[in-house]
Amino acid sequence: MDNKCKRAYITTPIYYVNDIPHIGHAYTTIICDTLARYSRLIGLETFFLTGTDEHGQKIEEAAKKRGKSAQQYADEISGYFKNLWDEFEISYDKFIRTTDKEHMKGVQKAFEVMYEKGDIYKDMYEGHYCVSCESFFTKNQLIDNEYCPDCGKPTNIVKEESYFFKLSKYEKKLLEWYNDEENCVLPKGKKNEVISFVEQGLKDLSVTRTSFDWGVKLPKSINDPKHVMYVWLDALLNYITALGYGSDEKLMKFWPATVHVVGKDILRFHAIYWPAFLMSLDLPLPKHVAAHGWWTRNGEKMSKSKGNVVNPRDVSNAYGLENFRYFMLREVPFGQDGDFSQKALMDRINSDLGNDLGNLLNRVLGMSGKYFDMKIDSKNVEKYHKKELDAAKEIIDGLQSYIFDMQLNRYLEGLWKILTIANQSIAIYEPWKMMKEEREDEAMALVALIANLLVKVTILLHPVMPKNTQKIAGVFGIDIDTKSYEKYIYNFELIQSAKLTKIPPLFPKIEKMLMPSPEPTTNKEVKTEKNEKIKTEDIGIITIEQFFQTKLKIGTILEAEDIEGSDRLLKLQVDLGEEKPRQIVAGIKAYYKPEELVNTQICVVSNLKPAKIFGHKSEGMLLAAKDKNSLSLMRPQSKVANGSSVG
Ligand code: MSP
Repeated sequence: MDNKCKRAYITTPIYYVNDIPHIGHAYTTIICDTLARYSRLIGLETFFLTGTDEHGQKIEEAAKKRGKSAQQYADEISGYFKNLWDEFEISYDKFIRTTDKEHMKGVQKAFEVMYEKGDIYKDMYEGHYCVSCESFFTKNQLIDNEYCPDCGKPTNIVKEESYFFKLSKYEKKLLEWYNDEENCVLPKGKKNEVISFVEQGLKDLSVTRTSFDWGVKLPKSINDPKHVMYVWLDALLNYITALGYGSDEKLMKFWPATVHVVGKDILRFHAIYWPAFLMSLDLPLPKHVAAHGWWTRNGEKMSKSKGNVVNPRDVSNAYGLENFRYFMLREVPFGQDGDFSQKALMDRINSDLGNDLGNLLNRVLGMSGKYFDMKIDSKNVEKYHKKELDAAKEIIDGLQSYIFDMQLNRYLEGLWKILTIANQSIAIYEPWKMMKEEREDEAMALVALIANLLVKVTILLHPVMPKNTQKIAGVFGIDIDTKSYEKYIYNFELIQSAKLTKIPPLFPKIEKMLMPSPEPTTNKEVKTEKNEKIKTEDIGIITIEQFFQTKLKIGTILEAEDIEGSDRLLKLQVDLGEEKPRQIVAGIKAYYKPEELVNTQICVVSNLKPAKIFGHKSEGMLLAAKDKNSLSLMRPQSKVANGSSVG
C-alpha cells in the first residue's frame, strides 16, 4: 500500500466453491479487511473486493459427486462464503461471483482484445493437468512422472485442441517490472522465487479447454463453441471485471489494484500470469502482489482427510471474533507459515489483550475515579511527560511503513510498545505516591498521559478490532473516524479534558480451552538426543494441546466408605468446587482406610466419561503413584481451593 494516491483497491483471492471456508480463507479475508479499514480510516477512497471462483473441472466434478448441477452447487457454497463474511462483518464493497453475467461478459471482452492483438493462437495441447490445482504441467515438472508438484495428487494426461496465450512474449517485460518496482511482489524472498522461475523461461499458456463444459464460452466473434476458458484466466480477470471492465467501466478509476493479497500457493498465477495478461490488455499493473504463508495444525497441512481443519466460525464463536482477528494478524509474520493452537490463541487474549490493554484501561479508569472524579486534563502532559510522548510519536511515525510492507504483526508490535510505555510509566512515577505527597498536578498529568497513549493506540488498532476499539474510544468520549485519526494521530494532538465513562471488562480471562474439537493425532517428527529424527506417535509423545485435553482438578474428599463385596474398591464423595460433590469409585481399599481419607485433598481427572464400577456410578478418577508394594495418592503440597486446575 502507499499513500501517494487518494484511492485504495484491495482484493482477496476469489475462493473455490469446492470446499467450505476454513481458517486459511478467513486469514486472507481478515488481512484484507484490516487493510481496507485502515485505508478508509486514513481517508483514502477505498474499494474492497472478495468473491467466489466457480468455474472449472474441479467444481464440475465436485458438483457431479453430490448429484447437483454445477450452478446449484456453486450457489450453495458461494452462499456459505458470503454468509460467513457477513457474519464476520467483513467490510467488502463487492462480492463477485465468476458466474455473474457482467463478469463473464468482461472475460469474453478481454479474450477478444488479446486475440485481436495476436497474443492468443490456436494449437494442440499435450501434457499433464492437475484438476485439484487447475494447473498444466510438463512431464519434467511432475513428481515420479505422474504426481502434481504443487499438491502431490495424480495428474491427468490431456491431449486436446487449445488456444494459447503468448506468455513467452512477456518474459522480458515481466523481469523489467520486477526490477523496476521493488515492492511489486512481497515479501522479498517470495519475489526472488518468482524471478528465478521466470528466468528459467516461460512457455506459452493453454487458456481454453474442450473436455468439459463448466466455464465461460469464447466470444461469439471467435466462433469456436466447443472451447471454454481456462479457469485461471477467467478467475484472474475478476479483479477488473468487478470494476466494470467490458461493461459499464464505472469503477475503473480504482484500477490499478493497490494490493492483491494471496496465499503463497497461488503467487505464480498472480505475479506472472496476471501481469502478463494485463500487459496484453494494455492496462497498468497492480502496485503490489503480497503472498502470505499457510496455517497448519501441529505442523501439518490442514485437510479434510486428516480431520484437522479448523473452522473459523467455531474459533470466533468460542473466543470472540475480534480476539481471533488480533491473534491471526499478530501471531505470524506475514509470508511465514503459522501453526494454529488454542493455547497460543488463549495466551494472546489473556496476555496481550487482557493484561496489556484491558488492564491499562482499568487502571486509567481506576486512577481517574479514585483521584479526580473520573476527569482527566491534559494541560500538563507535555510539561511532565515530553519524553514519553516523543517516544510514542516516534513509534507511530514508523508504523505506516509496516502497513505498506504488509507487516501487520510488526504494526501491532509497535502499538504494544506504546502500551508498554504507558504501563511502565505507572510503575515508574507511582501516582499513588504523588497523591500522598500532594503533587496532584503531576498525578493528573500522568493519568492524562496514559489516557492519551491509550486513545492513540485505540485509533490505530481500530482496523483490527473495530468494535472493541469503538467501545474504548467511547470511554474518552471520542469517535474513531478519519477526523479523529487526523487530529490525534496525524497531528498528534492530545485530548484536552474529558470525563471518563466506565465500561465492563472487554477481555475477560480465558481459563480453559473453549473449543470442543478434538486435536488431531499427529505424527510429527522430533529429534532425539542423538539428533535422530523419529515420529512422535512411534515414541508415544503427545502435543501440549493433547495433554491439556485431560482436565486435572484438586478436590476434597467429604465422605469415604467401603463397597460391600469388593476387596479393592472404596466409594468417595469429592468436592471439586462444583454444585454437587462427585462420586468416585477408586481401587485403593488395600492402601487407605476410609476415615483417614476424609478431609484430605486429592487430584482428579475431572473430564472422564462417567462409568459404572461394581454397580456404582463413578464420575472421575484419582491420580496415584504406584510401585510394587505401595500406592500413594497425589495431593497438593498445601491446601488449595477445591476445583483448582492442575497443569
Ligand atoms: N480460486 C483460487 C484463487 C483465484 S484468485 C483469482 C484459489 N482458491 S482457494 O479457495 O483454493 O484458495 C484461496 C486462498 O486461500 C489462497 O490464497 C490460499 O493460499 C488460501 N489458503 C488455502 N488454505 C490455506 C491455509 N491453510 N492457510 C492459509 N491460507 C490458505 O486458490
